[in-house]
Amino acid sequence: MVNNYDRIAKYYDFLSRTVFFKAQVNAQIEQLPFIPPGSKVLIVGGGTGWILSKIAELQPKGLRITYIEISSEMIALARKRNIKENSIELINTPIEDYHTKKTFDVVLTAFLFDNFSREKAELVFLKLHDLLKAEGLWLFSDFSYQPKIGKIWQYMMLKLMYFFFRIVSNVEARELPDVGIHFKKNKYKKIFRKRYYKNFIKATVYQKPGL
Ligand SMILES: C[S@@+](CC[C@H](N)C(=O)[O-])C[C@H]1O[C@@H](n2cnc3c(N)ncnc32)[C@H](O)[C@@H]1O
Repeated sequence: MVNNYDRIAKYYDFLSRTVFFKAQVNAQIEQLPFIPPGSKVLIVGGGTGWILSKIAELQPKGLRITYIEISSEMIALARKRNIKENSIELINTPIEDYHTKKTFDVVLTAFLFDNFSREKAELVFLKLHDLLKAEGLWLFSDFSYQPKIGKIWQYMMLKLMYFFFRIVSNVEARELPDVGIHFKKNKYKKIFRKRYYKNFIKATVYQKPGL
């Protein structure tokens, strides 16, 4: 299976913090105050679930969380997290295969789209776009690299990461897909943006347009 992090699940958080210090963590934590109380939240590719405890620290009750992960090992780790009095449904499936009639107030994707080919990124974007309510929020974070103006060290790091994760997790992507164009095309409004790790990581809170 492509993009499966089972083999690295136990070490993923350690690796992320060793290479990026707290940049990947802070990029996500600083978006959490945007989650409105009582929201239905869809988290896709949440990894070990550390984000669940951080969400519960801010909002100990009232959230209804759906957590979609392709990796059963990641799901097992996420299951152990303290979510306080929030409710959670953990679903071990690729997002491409998830079908529901539910819609969500908030979608959270962190370092998910960098795994996808350009075609898959568009497909997954459109799926999540449909699942997000009008005026809902999409907390998006990922690496950011623009070929002509990006720094050489960023290019090298991306190459190295893709090489490593292709071996360990069979990651299908060879380069970062441009997800920004889909937000733009679908008229999302940027309501918060911050960059981390010398601009290599970008976190944006997008709002879907109203009906
Ligand atoms: C780079 S990790 C990021 C984990 C987490 N968001 C974090 O920042 O710590 C990407 C995660 O997405 C999951 N993933 C990859 N493709 C997926 C898919 N198609 N559907 C659901 N989860 C997926 C992987 O199993 C992995 O846990």
